[in-house]
Amino acid sequence: MAVTSLISAAEEIRSRCNIVDVVSPLVSIKRAGSNYKGCCPFHKEKTPSFVVSEQKQIFTCFGCGKSGDVIKFIQEYYNLNFPEAVRRLAAQYGIEIDDSYERQSKKKDGYYAINKTAARFFFDAFTKHANPGYDYMKGRGIQPETIAKFGIGYADEGWQTLSDYMLAQGTQAELLTELGLSSRSSKDGRLYDKFRGRVMFPIFNTMGKVIGFGGRTIIGDAAKYLNSQESFVFEKKRNLYGLNLSKTEIQEQGYAILVEGYMDVVGLYQGGVRNVCAALGTALTPEQAQLLKRYTKKAVLCLDSDAAGIKAAIRGCDVMRAAGLDVRVMHVDDGKDPDEYIKKHGADEFRALLDKTAETDIDFKIGLIDRKYSGTDLSQSLNFLKAAANVLRPLSPVEADLYIPKVAKMRGISEGALRREIEQPSAEVPRPAPRTEQENAPQEQSVEDTPEVRGRIMVERMLIKLCLQRSDFWPKLQGRDDAFVSGEAYRIAEVLGECYRENNDFDVKAIRERLEGSALSYFDNIQEGVLTGDEETAFRDCLEKLDRRKAEQRIDEIMKILSIAEGVDEETLNKLMLELAELQRKFIK
Ligand code: GTP
Ligand code: MN
Repeated sequence: MAVTSLISAAEEIRSRCNIVDVVSPLVSIKRAGSNYKGCCPFHKEKTPSFVVSEQKQIFTCFGCGKSGDVIKFIQEYYNLNFPEAVRRLAAQYGIEIDDSYERQSKKKDGYYAINKTAARFFFDAFTKHANPGYDYMKGRGIQPETIAKFGIGYADEGWQTLSDYMLAQGTQAELLTELGLSSRSSKDGRLYDKFRGRVMFPIFNTMGKVIGFGGRTIIGDAAKYLNSQESFVFEKKRNLYGLNLSKTEIQEQGYAILVEGYMDVVGLYQGGVRNVCAALGTALTPEQAQLLKRYTKKAVLCLDSDAAGIKAAIRGCDVMRAAGLDVRVMHVDDGKDPDEYIKKHGADEFRALLDKTAETDIDFKIGLIDRKYSGTDLSQSLNFLKAAANVLRPLSPVEADLYIPKVAKMRGISEGALRREIEQPSAEVPRPAPRTEQENAPQEQSVEDTPEVRGRIMVERMLIKLCLQRSDFWPKLQGRDDAFVSGEAYRIAEVLGECYRENNDFDVKAIRERLEGSALSYFDNIQEGVLTGDEETAFRDCLEKLDRRKAEQRIDEIMKILSIAEGVDEETLNKLMLELAELQRKFIK
């Protein structure tokens, strides 16, 4: 079932099923004016106070107060939850529920499986027989345990080795090309391997699925590294190499070290520095920064000190700061990159180097400017002043205050001059505002486009995610039948309920074991989503949204009930009016 299809199916049901047709076979109702009347099926009564309005498509009982639309009626009548009632009515009225989410997640599983088979094939080629890839890595000091840990493999120099193997396994050619493992020859249409003569680094997402590959040439190919092309399962900008292995360590140590390349991750990890990961051969993206923020609020950039590395560091600083991370930059002086440094000096010295050289992003940028305009003449000093002001301008007043005296002193400028320069409007393009949770929350699955539906899905995802992190939130959701809207979320909530009853806590592994199909995929997908900001606040926001929506719906309902309340006693009417006024006072401002 599509994750949002339940809502659109519900819409479809509301527009296609006449409530009178649904109710009349179950409850004896008779026309009374413009409505239908009967004895309420939900409480015992002798004089009919159960009213169904064909025009408004609602039922209400002026006796017991139960009311709602056609779906609510089926829920109440058969004691079903929302998805069950929707499915029942959909089946009855031949409304097809789109299963695109399930289809998508199955498709994804298929792609993961192919990547996994390929990774296993490369790994076997690397470890089972002598091959130049293995010799190369051995020459670089990589040990067998590390190779196994990262699943490093070898793609030989042949043009069809992997393609032939995969085809023999029954893999569809189109999928191989889609995943960037093979290409089709324009001459004879045959499949050939994209990765040849390369040491292969499988790239895992944080759920441990192989989503793509990076391959380092050992035959001097023009491209030193080749990455899988983007695919349905591989979005470079949303993943970090090594994070699947290092996320726990990052959490434990309270910070992440961000390096440039595959070999740096592998090298540091093997050397004993395990809170490490790398952007995938591109500049760090906002999505990657958010991903990192799931595990830590602090990052240390450890990039090569060549011009390209410095440029990447500047951009990396900006992206991470915008994501709300506390950023440091460290400098590897001896050996051109972290991989070589740790091989030569070991983990302790690497950490000592970090302690010694790590500086804040601002200090790092100011240092660069200081070196760029190092002359003592007036024009150099002016350039320094302007550039430094540009760096300090976006800071909060409090943070700026920390730097201003220091920076002024570097060049013997007065603090006042620096402050005045900072207050000048910037000639630079303003930096983009930090992204909001809303933009970050929903990730992969297609979402039907009404903002209403998107909003509801966002809330249910957020609530599940929050409860996983804070099981004490769970009891506060009890009785909130409006919290979850998709069939998957309902199923996940059921399992969460079971787990909570057993342990008063949530264990992701135990939850996963009880889920299957699209609910399992949805659960994994929710976990991959990025959660930013404070948990308490996020939870409160979600509940507020739910309350507001519920109130709006109830207001709507009361209006309808009042419009069909002919001949209803004063007391009942007053109660409804009072409820309406109260809701309007609280929620409509
Ligand atoms: P080794 O020489 O194997 O130690 O690699 P390195 O990690 O020192 O590589 P380098 O510093 O040259 O590059 C760092 C990272 O940039 C690599 O891990 C890749 O992710 C990326 N990169 C380098 N060269 C290429 C290339 O030719 N193509 C692509 N797509 N990425 C590259
Ligand atoms: Mn290197």
